[in-house]
Amino acid sequence: MRLGSYLSKYAELKALYEIAEHDYKTKGLVHHNWNHILRDLARGVTIGETEGANVKIVLAGILLHDIGRLHPEQSKDHYVAGMKTAPKYLKSAGFIKDETDQIVRCIKAHGPRGLEEPETLEAKVCYDVDVLSHSCGAVGVARVFHFFMAEANFTVKQMMKIGSGKRGSRKSFYTQTGRKIGQKGYLKAKRFWKELGKKLEEEEQGVKKIIPEYEGD
Ligand SMILES: [Fe+2]
Ligand SMILES: [Fe+2]
Repeated sequence: MRLGSYLSKYAELKALYEIAEHDYKTKGLVHHNWNHILRDLARGVTIGETEGANVKIVLAGILLHDIGRLHPEQSKDHYVAGMKTAPKYLKSAGFIKDETDQIVRCIKAHGPRGLEEPETLEAKVCYDVDVLSHSCGAVGVARVFHFFMAEANFTVKQMMKIGSGKRGSRKSFYTQTGRKIGQKGYLKAKRFWKELGKKLEEEEQGVKKIIPEYEGD
């Protein structure tokens, strides 16, 4: 089904979509922008439908998964900031308490650095959507560069030092559909990051032989 069909079917979802769109466009983050949300929504429809998840919850979770990035005053950790801010968005869009609880679980667990492991099917779908958006294939690699260099102002060297850490034991994918779409690209991206780390190290050592004070960037 197209996204528009879900927005027509659920008035609360449409209201949330409009509030989130307004806030994303007003804040104007370079990487975590409205297009980032649109790409994830499309993946959410595909995976959510195939897995038989509650697509309304999945889409609301995706709309708000990075909302914490628009509210850094709540916490430096966008998972914590998102968890604190999301209920206000959901209340003003008209979601009931039970749905809000389910959506907050999606936000808390939406990626490898999430506050908890995804346990509900909807949270698992949101997790896989996040992994597909920045951990798979050439596009995933490009998105990571875009975030670190354009939004977080990092150099390549600083970026490499962060590593692709996980908070707690996390799988690469939590749904069969996510794995089917992303597994090849996930491994390809992993190989690329390993190779890049090795090449940067070789480059730095090579320059240092001639210019010992070189620190790299
Ligand atoms: Fe995201
Ligand atoms: Fe995120």
